[in-house]
Amino acid sequence: MAYWTTPSPRAAFIDRRARLAAALRTAGGPEVETAWLPAGYSRPRNFPHNRYRFRAESHFLYLIGRHLEGAVLSFHKDTWTLYALPPDPSDALWTGPAPSLEELEVELGLPVRPLAELQGGPEVALIPPQDADTAIWLAEQLDRDVVAGGGASLEGAAITLAEALIAARLRHDDAAIAQLRQAAAVTMEAHRAGFAATRPGLREAAVRAAMELPITAAGMVPSYNSIVTVHGEVLHSERHHHEIEAGDLLLADVGAETAEGYAGDVTRTWPVSGVFSSTQRAAYEAVLIAQRAAIAKVAPGVRYLEVHRAAGRALLGALAELGLVNGDPEEAYAAGLSALFFPHGIGHLLGLDVHDMEDLGDRAGYAPGRSRLPGAGDRFLRLDRDLEPGMLVTIEPGFYQIPGLTSREHAGALAPLVNWAELERYADVRGIRIEDDVLVTEHGHEVLTEQLPKDPAAVEACVRGHQVP
Ligand code: GLY
Ligand code: MN
Ligand code: MN
Repeated sequence: MAYWTTPSPRAAFIDRRARLAAALRTAGGPEVETAWLPAGYSRPRNFPHNRYRFRAESHFLYLIGRHLEGAVLSFHKDTWTLYALPPDPSDALWTGPAPSLEELEVELGLPVRPLAELQGGPEVALIPPQDADTAIWLAEQLDRDVVAGGGASLEGAAITLAEALIAARLRHDDAAIAQLRQAAAVTMEAHRAGFAATRPGLREAAVRAAMELPITAAGMVPSYNSIVTVHGEVLHSERHHHEIEAGDLLLADVGAETAEGYAGDVTRTWPVSGVFSSTQRAAYEAVLIAQRAAIAKVAPGVRYLEVHRAAGRALLGALAELGLVNGDPEEAYAAGLSALFFPHGIGHLLGLDVHDMEDLGDRAGYAPGRSRLPGAGDRFLRLDRDLEPGMLVTIEPGFYQIPGLTSREHAGALAPLVNWAELERYADVRGIRIEDDVLVTEHGHEVLTEQLPKDPAAVEACVRGHQVP
C-alpha cells in the first residue's frame, strides 16, 4: 500500500489556537500578555547554503502545522498573529516559489505579517528553541538571555505558557490522532520492509535503507535517527556498519514522522536467519510477556509507573521460569534486579516529538508533585502521570546483556539472584526490545501498531518468507 500524508484540516489548528488562548486566559500563575512561539531556523552543514533539513519547533507545528522557517507565532492580548518571512524573489530560481503572506493568511486562517514587523521586549513569554541561531536572534529581539534548549528551567510567564501547552498537547485531539495513525501505518510498513530485506551477509545499513524507503516514499521522514543494529545491547546505537550474520538478532527501532511532525516509534527484534535459536526465542518470549503485561495495564486512571513496574515484574517472572533468576521473582523485583537486564523506562509520551515535550524537561512527563525515583530500574522512566484518554505512550521493555552492566561484579549484592551459569548459555542474546505505540482510550487502550507481527513464529515467517531456502 502506498501512503501519502493527508494534512489536518485548517479548522484543527484554528481550534488549537483558540483552546490555547482560552487556557492562557484562565491559567493561574504569572499572566501571559504576550507569548512567542518560534519555528526556528535550519542549521548550515558545511557552508551556508548546504543546510540540514529544516524541521519547525514542535509547539509551533502544533499550532500552525507547517514548517515555516524563521516564522514566529505571536499571542498578544488574546490575538494570534503569524510573523513570517516574505518570499524571496530568488526562491523561484533555487527552491521554487513560496506562498505570499496573503496566501498564507487564507491557508492558515489567521493574520500574517512580515517578520520585520515583529516587536517585543523582555516580558515576552517564550519556550526556548532548540537551535542556537534562533536563540541568539530571539535574545537580540527581546533584549534578554535566551538559552537554546533551556526549556527545562523556565521562569515567570514562560511557566504559564508551558503548562498551557502541556495541558493542550498531552491528550491528542482528533486531528493529531489521525496524524499518529498515519505515522503508525508507515512505521509498520518500514518494519515489514526490514523483515523482507534481511539477509545474512548484508550490512545493517542495507536493512536501514530498506526500512527508510517506504518512509521517504510516503513523503515522511524518520522521526529520529534509525537504530538498526546487531548490537541491540547499545540502546540507541546509530552505527550501521556491522555485517549481519545468520546467528545474530537484528534490533530495529525505526519510526516515521508525518509532514506535520507527528511521530511513530516502534522496535522489533528478529533473527537474521529467519529462525530464533532456542535461547534467543526464550529471551524474546520473556520480553514479549513483559510487553503484553505492560500493555494490558494501559487504561485511564492508571499510573504509568505501575505500567513500568508490571513490565519489570513480568520480565523477572519469565526469566525465573527459564531458570535465569533464582528464588522468588517478586522478591528479586523488590530488590531491584529487573534493571540488570532492563535498565531503561518502559516508555514515554509520543506525539509531535518522539519523546513528546521533553524540551520541557520532566514538566510534561511527570505529574505535579512527582519526580524521578532514584532506583536503578526507575530513574530513566520518562513519564509518571496517571493516564488519560487521548494520551499516546510507547511500551518498550527489553532484555539486554550489556558488557560491564549485566555482570556478576556489577550486580554486587544482587548477584546470588542470578543463575550466571545458565545465563552463559544466552551469549547469542545481546539485546532484544519490543516497542509499540499505545493510545489510551475512554475505557482501555488501542495499540496503533498492533498489525505489525511480534509473535516469534510470525516474525520468523515474515523474515523467512523472503529468503531463498
Ligand atoms: N526510539 C527512541 C525510543 O524508543 O525512545
Ligand atoms: Mn520509544
Ligand atoms: Mn523507539
